[in-house]
Amino acid sequence: MTLPPSPEAALDDLLREDRRFPPPTAFRDGARVSDEAIYREAEADPEAFWARWAGELHWFTPWTEVLEWEAPRARWFSGGELNVAYNCLDRHLDGPRRNQAALIWEGEPGDTRTYTYWDLHRETSKFANALKGLGVGKGDRVAIYLPMVPEAAIAMLACARIGAIHSVVFGGFSPESLADRINDAEAKVLITADGGYRRGNVVPLKRNADQALERCSSIEHVVVVARGWNIARTTQTTLKPGRDLWYHDLVAEASADCPAEPMESEETLFILYTSGTTGKPKGVVHSTGGYLTQVYATTRLVFDLRDDDVYWCTADVGWITGHSYIVYGPLANGAAVVMYEGAPDFPDRGRFWEICEKYGVTIFYTAPTAIRAFMKWGEEWVGKSDLSRLRLLGTVGEPINPEAWIWYHRVIGGERCPIVDTWWQTETGAIMITPLPGVTETRPGSATRAFPGISATILSETGEEVPAGYLAITRPWPSMLRTIWGDDTRFRETYWSKWDGIYFPGDGAKREEDGYFWVLGRVDDVLNVAGHRIGTMEVESALVDHPAVAEAAVVGKSHDVKGQAIAAFVTLKEGRQPSDELAYTLKGHVAEKIGSIARPEDIIFSADLPKTRSGKIMRRLLRDIAEGKALGDTTTLADPDVVRRLKERYEEGA
Ligand code: WT7
Repeated sequence: MTLPPSPEAALDDLLREDRRFPPPTAFRDGARVSDEAIYREAEADPEAFWARWAGELHWFTPWTEVLEWEAPRARWFSGGELNVAYNCLDRHLDGPRRNQAALIWEGEPGDTRTYTYWDLHRETSKFANALKGLGVGKGDRVAIYLPMVPEAAIAMLACARIGAIHSVVFGGFSPESLADRINDAEAKVLITADGGYRRGNVVPLKRNADQALERCSSIEHVVVVARGWNIARTTQTTLKPGRDLWYHDLVAEASADCPAEPMESEETLFILYTSGTTGKPKGVVHSTGGYLTQVYATTRLVFDLRDDDVYWCTADVGWITGHSYIVYGPLANGAAVVMYEGAPDFPDRGRFWEICEKYGVTIFYTAPTAIRAFMKWGEEWVGKSDLSRLRLLGTVGEPINPEAWIWYHRVIGGERCPIVDTWWQTETGAIMITPLPGVTETRPGSATRAFPGISATILSETGEEVPAGYLAITRPWPSMLRTIWGDDTRFRETYWSKWDGIYFPGDGAKREEDGYFWVLGRVDDVLNVAGHRIGTMEVESALVDHPAVAEAAVVGKSHDVKGQAIAAFVTLKEGRQPSDELAYTLKGHVAEKIGSIARPEDIIFSADLPKTRSGKIMRRLLRDIAEGKALGDTTTLADPDVVRRLKERYEEGA
């Protein structure tokens, strides 16, 4: 098998880790689940287990069949009808929860807004009516390109309410990336903002959107959220007559009465684009009933969610974590959800901890890359705030190195909070491998065991169970992706062609005698840079798009904060000379084409690229060069000299 691109030292570290952390007694005693029996019950009858969770939701029409499975086609709860927005909002209006906080929002400049469930229901209904007024109906696609403002959640819920399919595009993506996603989904309406705050600056989303729309023909209307009138001036937002409308004008006129559209369980709730091994991102398609069931159940059990919790997930709604664990999972559970617009180091590096103290956050869910940044910034920033209300910590997005885990446990968790290391993906929709905080003894760096009702194992290329190899999911699960938008062949080939009827996530993993999973990282040409998924091919396409570039090969090199950073090997066209200036230009070119998350850390000019005799670029070798490691066996190379020259050049530059 191909070794995952994790740094070897960290890997060794992971494999030697044997510290164990049983659930603290005080936590276990009050936990929603404190008994192993849940695993056995779910295993005995997984369908009954999931049906029990689905049964806690509100259905307009009950389902007739829990699961129909003809790999890779799954139908969960078919015959059933429900509405996701109804379950996240209306369901909470009958009792005392209606006047409790649903969304506690803080903008980067310090402005705040709190919405109760009643408020959120009203705002969602109004905006849903506004969308209807623009001709949006069931099955239509709506693109959402917003900063982390309440309107992002409201727009998603409004789409869900009327059965429109949303496609949220992360606000850090470039106009070109936005255009590609709009065109692939043929979205009818785009919802954006005049700007959003990031590190004191205003990200000009509307200006980006206008650029994108020069290449899009499907968009009929653009709805613009005014994130403060001052921004409207500084970004010189202009509205195109007939096409563009202010959000506040639309909702001012809209009725707050909008019945929730009954959706068949298998109908699409949203599309979310994610990077794969080709230059073209995949539109991952998620369903309604199965998706909501699993995000509801996992939010409740993995985060041990209770009525008096204040829950904060620091992800952006532009990623799956934001969809499942800021919006749908927590709201379906009636939680009080904290949402923050800006950067963790603005105006200073204590911002997150101030927010935790200010709102009394009890559950905190973030990414290893953020934890490593906090570590680097130093404990003194954490010490300025009172974090004593925290009772549970979570991590997601990439393997967490034991050192960061231990720091998180000690400094943020005060040694009293269990840590849930949750493994899942855009495609899985919800958490798949995770501790249950009242049950599972945790080990730093291990996501531990499959969630009850989920069946995971490790397989070899040929499908034998092995202690180290490819992670595999051996049974269908409710929140699984249903297809790739417009490309069912790619869906089948990417995830279902390695083994028969078994899902291939693209991760390498190992398992110990206790059955614990250690997910080691991607085994395909996908990078994980600061928790963001980036395809090497996407970056390569962006590079060769520049007139000076003949060929490019992109690899991930280990990085102490980001996990991986992008290193790009570039061969130039005849007559072009390498220079620092050109390297700088190329980095900027990639950022402009894709978004700044894809900006390469290093550009390494090379007269040639190392290829195998069959013409495949030897990425592992490039990775070693980028990381300054000694070269291994290069006899399979067509021209071994290339590598020597490359390595010398890199060492000169580095
Ligand atoms: C990839 C999925 C799931 C939301 C955020 C990322 C890696 C994710 C873990 C973890 C080790 C992890 C995997 C996976 N990953 N969580 N707890 N331990 N690796 O979603 O962008 O779809 O990326 O992130 O490599 O395949 P995504």
